[in-house]
Amino acid sequence: FVPPSSGPAGGGVTAKDALGDNIKVSEFLEKHGPGERVLAQGLKGDPTYLVVKENGGLESYGINSICTHLGCVVPWNSAEGKFICPCHGSQYNAAGKVVRGPAPLSLALAHADKTEDDTVALTPWTETDFRTGEKPWWT
Ligand code: FES
Repeated sequence: FVPPSSGPAGGGVTAKDALGDNIKVSEFLEKHGPGERVLAQGLKGDPTYLVVKENGGLESYGINSICTHLGCVVPWNSAEGKFICPCHGSQYNAAGKVVRGPAPLSLALAHADKTEDDTVALTPWTETDFRTGEKPWWT
């Protein structure tokens, strides 16, 4: 007996859209162009940005949208090329690295991998944070 899989191995989840449906990578990339950052339901239910790379593919990391100051969801501002928190003005660059406080830390990362059935597996990012060269604060 093999129980049906509830999602990716290793404590991951399948990224879902606002309606709770699994995101299909092919449809997602038809709808969203290079540089877009689009919210999906991610690990622990946290709203997490999926990123379209400049060449049109899916970026291999997702960016958790929860501000590291007091937890507001941080919108992407495409005109500024930054995430700007509406609550107290913290700013994060396009990869979610904090560039202006009061937020003390960068936005958390997750791995975002396309699966064989065209969904996105979000799994915990436990490696070095490539934006800071430090150990991830969120694990
Ligand atoms: Fe984002 Fe305070 S919660 S700046």
